[in-house]
Amino acid sequence: MTAFAADGVTVVDHPLVTHKLSIMRAKETSTVQFRTLLREISTLLCYEVTRELPLEDWPLETPVGPTTGRKIEGKKLVFVPILRAGLGLVEGMLDLVPSARVAHVGLYRDPETLEAVEYYFRAPEDVADRLCVVVDPMLATGGSAIAAIDRLKARGVRDLRFVCLVAAPEGVARLRAAHPDVPVWAAAVDGHLNDHGYIVPGLGDAGDRLFGTR
Ligand code: PRP
Ligand code: URA
Repeated sequence: MTAFAADGVTVVDHPLVTHKLSIMRAKETSTVQFRTLLREISTLLCYEVTRELPLEDWPLETPVGPTTGRKIEGKKLVFVPILRAGLGLVEGMLDLVPSARVAHVGLYRDPETLEAVEYYFRAPEDVADRLCVVVDPMLATGGSAIAAIDRLKARGVRDLRFVCLVAAPEGVARLRAAHPDVPVWAAAVDGHLNDHGYIVPGLGDAGDRLFGTR
C-alpha cells in the first residue's frame, strides 16, 4: 500500500507511521486509541511536511560566545483542518510548531453526490502572506481537499501543502490535476474507492471514528 509514486506526492512510510496507522485501521480499535494514534501520527507527518522549510541566519550569543544560529524564515505557518476529522491532526502538529496559526474550513461530503458542501470558514486576516498546511485524515474523491484549497486561494493564499493519513489514487490524481502547485503528503495511498466513495481498505469514516458518532 505504500509502493505509490506520483509527482508532488510524498508517502511517509516510516515504520512508526505504518505501525500506528495499521492499528487505526482495525475495526476493533477504540475511539480513545484512534484519537491518540491520529495525534501521534500527525506529529510525525508534521515533521515531514516541514522538512524543507527555508531557514535564515540568526546572529546570537551563547553563554560562551557569538555564533550564527538559524531560524525558520517568514511568517508563522497556518494549519488548516478540514472539519470535522481534520481537527484530529491539529494538536499533534501544534505540539511541534506551537506558534502556528489555525484556520478552519468546515466541509461535509454530500452522501448522494459526494460533492463537498462548505458550512464554515475562518482564517487569520493575513493568511495570504503565510504558508498554509491543509490537513484531513482522508483524501477520497478529492472534492473536500480541492474545495478547501479553492477557498484559501480565493483569499489570496499562494503557498499551500496538503497532508492526509490515507489517500485514494483517484483523489490524489484529482487533487494534483486541480492544484498542481500543492504538494501532498500521505501516510499511505490505498487501493481504490468503493461505490460509496469510501477508501478501500481505508479505515472507515474518520470523523465518526475520531468523535465516536457511529
Ligand atoms: C470526510 C473526510 C474528508 C472527506 C474526504 O469528511 O474527513 O473531509 O470525507 O472525502 P472526499 O475526498 O471524497 O471529499 P466528511 O465529509 O465525512 O465529514 P466529517 O469530517 O465531518 O465527518
Ligand atoms: N471519508 C472518510 O472518512 N473515509 C473514507 O474512506 C472516505 C471519505
